[in-house]
Amino acid sequence: MRPDDERTPGPLDEEHPVANTQDIKYSFGLWTVGWPAADPFGTATRPELDPAESVRRLADLGAWGFTFHDNDVFPFGSDDTERLAHIDSVKKAAADTGMVCEMVTTNTFTHPVFKDGAFTSNNRDVRRFGLRKVLRNVDLAADMGASTFVMWGGREGTEYDNSKDLHAAHARYAEGIDTVAAYIKSQGYDLRIGLEPKPNEPRGDIFVPTIGHAIALIDTLDNGDIVGLNPETGHEQMAGLNYTHGLALALYAGKLFHIDLNGQHGPRFDQDLVFGHGDLISAFFTVDLLENGFPNGGPRYEGPRHFDYKPSRTEHLDGVWQSAAANMETYSMLARKAAEYRADPEVQAAFEHAGIFELGEPTLAEGETLESFLADPSVEDDFDITAAAERGYGLVRLHQLAVKHLIG
Ligand code: GCO
Ligand code: MN
Ligand code: MN
Repeated sequence: MRPDDERTPGPLDEEHPVANTQDIKYSFGLWTVGWPAADPFGTATRPELDPAESVRRLADLGAWGFTFHDNDVFPFGSDDTERLAHIDSVKKAAADTGMVCEMVTTNTFTHPVFKDGAFTSNNRDVRRFGLRKVLRNVDLAADMGASTFVMWGGREGTEYDNSKDLHAAHARYAEGIDTVAAYIKSQGYDLRIGLEPKPNEPRGDIFVPTIGHAIALIDTLDNGDIVGLNPETGHEQMAGLNYTHGLALALYAGKLFHIDLNGQHGPRFDQDLVFGHGDLISAFFTVDLLENGFPNGGPRYEGPRHFDYKPSRTEHLDGVWQSAAANMETYSMLARKAAEYRADPEVQAAFEHAGIFELGEPTLAEGETLESFLADPSVEDDFDITAAAERGYGLVRLHQLAVKHLIG
């Protein structure tokens, strides 16, 4: 939300076109609303949008910021003059509206030169070209004032397991990421890298398919301190995983640098639906974590609430802006419901009954040594196993309380 704006709650209609109801920093990729909706089976159903115009429209809807790939703003292969002209028009829209460019990312997937990947292509010349494209875009990210540089390696992968030396591919991937991180440091840019995992699509198998894989790869880097995650709701769900659990692990590891929120119905193609239009209960718990944190405290996500969705191919331009607003409206509604849920004394009592606060207590007492633990009779001999086995945790009732808050 722009600081000078007073937004009031309201449904999505003519009188209340503003979906955003709270002081939440909502942000959109320009490629989201700008997607002309060509898919593998059909041509585009909508015209191309001017990215500067999209910045203005998103600002009108109540968004706070925007993000883009280099080639959302200027065509692949643009010379410096053409490049700057396009960038300037987006900068002007940002200055006019107060919209913040908070993240920039690089397109290393559309052009056929990247068909076998950029950082992991078997062709070394392609890898060097891809790295150069990314580094040029790091300069642009810094120039735009972005704080996050996302790297989604959509073409880094294979269709067939014998297509690559899989050890060399991971080594080249790590080398590429480390080189970008080293460049950011050498330039003194205030930027952090967010790796975006995805299990498949467009490649049959994409390298670094989940949040957990990304954390493991980051651990091998020399400059991993400025490399973290940009997890996308649908990408984890495509892998059959729980997005909120993934966010929790990334927070625990100190690596939740950015987020891509959207909707997905389980393991299938990347649907990129409006946030909450896939698994709504999962979206509720995602918002609950982002807005209210862990019940026992701990690290919080402080970055923008960034949407990476696609307006469905059935929609024309009205539908593009309605769907953009729907992301913010759904998030805001879930944020209100999640606040009420946490404030409900019945929920807090159910947390207590379930042992949720007890889980915040370390298993070993403060200062307890391994020796004293091993010698402690209360651990085994005096422990009432039968009583513990017969305890009910009340988790179904607790979940029903969440459902009541969500739809009640
Ligand atoms: C997808 C991806 C992309 C990336 C974007 C950022 O839906 O397949 O999420 O949209 O987020 O390219 O680099
Ligand atoms: Mn996606
Ligand atoms: Mn994404």
